[in-house]
Amino acid sequence: MKYLVIGATGNIGARVVQRLINAGARPSVFVRSTKRAKALFCDQVDIHVGDLENPGPSLGRALVGVDGIFLVTDGLDLEKRDRAVSFAANRAGVRHVVKLSTLDVRTGIGTGPWHARGENAVRESGVAFTFIQAAGFMSNAFGWSESIRREGVLRSSTGGGKIAFIHPDDIAAVATASLTTRDYDGQALVITGPEALSYGEMTDTIGRAIGKPVRFEEITDGQAYARTVEWAGKGAYADALVDIWRAVREGRLDTVTDGVKQMTGREPIPFDQWATENTASFQ
Ligand SMILES: NC(=O)c1ccc[n+]([C@@H]2O[C@H](COP(=O)([O-])OP(=O)(O)OC[C@H]3O[C@@H](n4cnc5c(N)ncnc54)[C@H](OP(=O)(O)O)[C@@H]3O)[C@@H](O)[C@H]2O)c1
Repeated sequence: MKYLVIGATGNIGARVVQRLINAGARPSVFVRSTKRAKALFCDQVDIHVGDLENPGPSLGRALVGVDGIFLVTDGLDLEKRDRAVSFAANRAGVRHVVKLSTLDVRTGIGTGPWHARGENAVRESGVAFTFIQAAGFMSNAFGWSESIRREGVLRSSTGGGKIAFIHPDDIAAVATASLTTRDYDGQALVITGPEALSYGEMTDTIGRAIGKPVRFEEITDGQAYARTVEWAGKGAYADALVDIWRAVREGRLDTVTDGVKQMTGREPIPFDQWATENTASFQ
C-alpha cells in the first residue's frame, strides 16, 4: 500500500509519517519545503514539493499510485484545500482519505464550522473517507510555556471549566490505524484524552512535573482576546480561540470518549505524562 501524508512536517502529520516508517512502509509526503522534510525523515520518504494554496500539477503527480492519504489542513478556508485534495484523489483512483478534523464539528464551536465545511467537501468528492474528530491537543499547552517560565503563571478565560485534551501521539496512532485498514471507512471517529481537566488542574500538573509552583489566574474573554490578537492578529482565528475558551468555561467541551481505546486497544495517554515529557519547555 502506498500512503501520502499532507501536513507531514506538522505536529500530527510528522508522527503519522514516523509510524508508517516504523511499520515498514515508505510513505510519500507532500510538503512546501524539501529541507524540512529531509530534516525530519532523511531519505525514508518520497518527497513531493507543492503548496496547497496553488498546487498546479504538483498534487496530481504526488497522487500517482497512492492508495491512502492522511490530510491535515488548517484555516478558515480549509474547505478549499480539502476539496482540491479529495476531488483530485478521487480522480486519481485513491481509495481512502483520512482527514484530521475536530470534535467541534459536533458542537459548532471555534473551528468546528471550518472543518464541517471541509468534511462536506470530502464527502462530495466521492472518495472513501474517515474523519478524525479530535478534542483539543495537549500540545496546545506549549502556548502557556512563556508565562509559566517567566512568571510561574497561566492566565486563561476558561475559568473552572474542563476539557479532555488528547496527546498528539494518540491522534497519530488513531490516524495511522484508520489509514492502514479499511475498517473505518465512512466513519467519524471522536477521540479525546482520558479525562476532562480544568486549566487550573493542568497548571498544577505542570507545576508538579517541573517541581515549581505554578499559579492559575482567571482572565475575562476581552483580556483573552486582546492577548491572542498580539500573536495571532485580529480575525477568525483569534475569534475561534476565544469562542473555544468560553465554551470550556461554560462546560460545553468536557466530552470524554473511549475512541482511543477502541482504536488502539490501550488507554489514552494522560496529561501528566505529556507534562513530564515536556518539562524542558516550562523550566
Ligand atoms: N490544536 C487543537 O487543539 C486541535 C484540535 C482539533 C483539531 N485540530 C486541527 O488539527 C489541524 C492542525 O494539525 P497540526 O497541529 O498537526 O498542524 P501543524 O503542526 O500546524 O502543521 C500544519 C502542516 O500543514 C502544512 N501546510 C500548511 N499550509 C500548507 C499549504 N498551503 N500547502 C501544503 N502544506 C501546508 C504545514 O507545512 P509547513 O511545514 O510547510 O508549514 C504543516 O506540515 C488543524 O486542522 C486543526 O483545526 C486542532
